[in-house]
Amino acid sequence: GDGTGVSICINHHHIHPTLCKLSQNCLSSLISTDYGKSFHDISHRINHTFIREEFGVSVGPGSSVILTADTPVVDNPGGIIFTSMDAGATFKFIQLPFHLAQPVTYHFFNPDYLVALSIDVSHSNIISMTTDLEGVTVVFFDTDERGDLVLKRTKDLGETFTTIHEDIYSFGYIGAFLFFSVMEEPRSPRVMYFSSDQGDTFSRALLPSASTEQFYSILDGDEDMLFMHVDNPGDTFFGTMYTSDDRGILFSKSLERHLFDGQRKSDFTNITSLRGVYLTNKLDLDGRIRSVISFNRGGTWKQLNKPDNVDCGEQVKSVRWCNLHIHGEHSRNNRIVPMLALSEPTAIGLVIAHGTVGDSLSSSQHPDVFVSSDGGYNWRGTLRGPHHYSILDSGGLIVAVEAQREGQVKTIKFSTDEGQCWKSYNFTEQPFFFAGLACEPGTKAMNVSVWGFRPEEDGQPMWVAVTIDFQSLITRECNDQDYEQWLAHSAEGGTSERKGCVLGVKETYRRLKRQSVCRNGRNFVVSKKQSSCLCTREDYLCDYGYYRHVNTSDCVRQPSAANKSLEMCLNGEEDELLTAGYRKVPSDRCEGGYNPQLAVQTVIRPCGVKPSPGPPDKSTSSVTHFDTLVIIVLVAVVSAVISVRRVVYSNS
Ligand SMILES: *[C@@H]1O[C@H](CO)[C@@H](O)[C@H](O)[C@H]1NC(C)=O
Ligand SMILES: *[C@@H]1O[C@H](CO)[C@@H](O)[C@H](O)[C@H]1NC(C)=O
Ligand SMILES: *[C@@H]1O[C@H](CO)[C@@H](O)[C@H](O)[C@H]1NC(C)=O
Ligand SMILES: *[C@@H]1O[C@H](CO)[C@@H](O)[C@H](O)[C@H]1NC(C)=O
Ligand SMILES: *[C@@H]1O[C@H](CO)[C@@H](O)[C@H](O)[C@H]1NC(C)=O
Repeated sequence: GDGTGVSICINHHHIHPTLCKLSQNCLSSLISTDYGKSFHDISHRINHTFIREEFGVSVGPGSSVILTADTPVVDNPGGIIFTSMDAGATFKFIQLPFHLAQPVTYHFFNPDYLVALSIDVSHSNIISMTTDLEGVTVVFFDTDERGDLVLKRTKDLGETFTTIHEDIYSFGYIGAFLFFSVMEEPRSPRVMYFSSDQGDTFSRALLPSASTEQFYSILDGDEDMLFMHVDNPGDTFFGTMYTSDDRGILFSKSLERHLFDGQRKSDFTNITSLRGVYLTNKLDLDGRIRSVISFNRGGTWKQLNKPDNVDCGEQVKSVRWCNLHIHGEHSRNNRIVPMLALSEPTAIGLVIAHGTVGDSLSSSQHPDVFVSSDGGYNWRGTLRGPHHYSILDSGGLIVAVEAQREGQVKTIKFSTDEGQCWKSYNFTEQPFFFAGLACEPGTKAMNVSVWGFRPEEDGQPMWVAVTIDFQSLITRECNDQDYEQWLAHSAEGGTSERKGCVLGVKETYRRLKRQSVCRNGRNFVVSKKQSSCLCTREDYLCDYGYYRHVNTSDCVRQPSAANKSLEMCLNGEEDELLTAGYRKVPSDRCEGGYNPQLAVQTVIRPCGVKPSPGPPDKSTSSVTHFDTLVIIVLVAVVSAVISVRRVVYSNS
């Protein structure tokens, strides 16, 4: 947690209790409260329970942490978690009536709620749940007599249920959205339904349907919108990316030939240090991978500028074909790079990533480290070869350790000017095998721990953590002269009035001058001035049932052919949509300027479903109400269901 200085270290070496006296390996967990400088045993706080290796630790907001126990005991009815609200000083023990299938996560809107996913089919027929703020909404799967999946919902912790849809294929949640996919007729392609109101209504997404050999994948989502990948038929390793509106109904094509490899990994990255910036890779017609960046949340994509200080290499015929290409999950999975692109909301504009310069992303060329200070418009080559890197002091300090496949490490590099100059520091006399760089989330700290191991004589590795406190090196606190005003997205150009406008707003940040060597410190907060921009056509989408006319770019009512799908939904569904044909791009806050007006507002009924009250389901009365600070919410999955966490993509 931010500002706690606490690290928890979990031991996954199980040793039989009777051998414990002989070995330190019986310690199940250690804690450090001084940024990793010293550790002590806290096994007793969790009753000497061993913590799972896979998703054993979930760190929440503030000082909350959840440890999930390894429970090999056969007669145990469910999983065990230990929750702490004080960064591990005390733990509360909770026995779950189900087994976890995924890490416990904190609810998107209210971190007091936890969301869990279980695979217990045996435990009554509760399969999955999700909460809302007023009470608890439970959405869950059930299997009917034929073994098909039914999506049901309860708002009273299992007293009564309503059926949302039958014959469900998958169900999940991301950001503020709940979704399910369904084959509406046997062996027909799947379609997706989304809810942006915690399950009150689900609407069919205007997306291409997916046959059984295709998949949908939600790349990222927040309270406003979703990025959605729809796989191409066949093993093409690419598909089409769509962006949604705020209701999850309207989807606009954002990027074609979006790379999605055989292991179902996409390189989609949210650049969190600048609003509206996303990075991903395409698989082009010539079979090469090229990087593209969007500065307007998927509205348009373009290739990355070539860094000024890096040459294109001999193979590149012309500077026109020379760009920066960034390694993503695809490359990390193939061990080409040790880390993904790094950006932090507190370090405005800063992006650090591995890449290659040339015609396309090269896996044979050694990846180098590149830095951008303006959110991805301009880049600089900064370190040769692959590195592990971290951002400290809200971007005032970057640290990096060279990635050594076999060798041992003893040196850390650091830069106070966003990677223009680097200095080295030998932090140990005895080098060790590198395992990771650990620093506090939130980037406010100036302590970083390098951890790894040294082989000991008895063959057992000895774990080592070295904590480096850069506070003793950068001693001056920043003052007003160290900061400057920076208009975000100003590198985009445009007329002075529209310069910096993205999604209807321009933002001027107060940020540290690059040449200032001083500490932002713990009290640093990102401060910005916002002003709204005049609206243009680009700030609007054509609403459901409308399309953009090629010649006038006005939104016009879809002709009768397309109306067919609309009519299908007119019967039986009461949900109505009042529309003037235009809809603002999600979270766009432009004011004045272009104001599209259709003469009449028309009513359109999207293909929606509302939960219909079903008979109360007695067998689910075993839903348990937990007498703890948190309300545990179960989500369990049957076979084909894969759910989505916020950062991790998944396919459904
Ligand atoms: C702790 O362990 C003891 C003995 O193994 C057991 O009786 C007790 O129920 C455990 N308590 C918790 C909270 O796990
Ligand atoms: C991208 O990251 C920013 C900053 O953390 C966040 O506010 C935004 O919701 C994210 N976007 C999506 C689509 O997840
Ligand atoms: C760090 O150690 C290397 C040898 O491994 C040495 O060449 C270098 O000069 C040392 N750097 C500093 C700053 O002491
Ligand atoms: C670094 O760690 C020390 C304790 O070991 C702590 O007193 C100090 O505040 C930390 N510095 C920062 C900037 O977090
Ligand atoms: C658009 O304009 C072109 C040339 O002016 C015309 O040939 C075409 O039919 C127009 N398209 C539509 C859909 O009206």
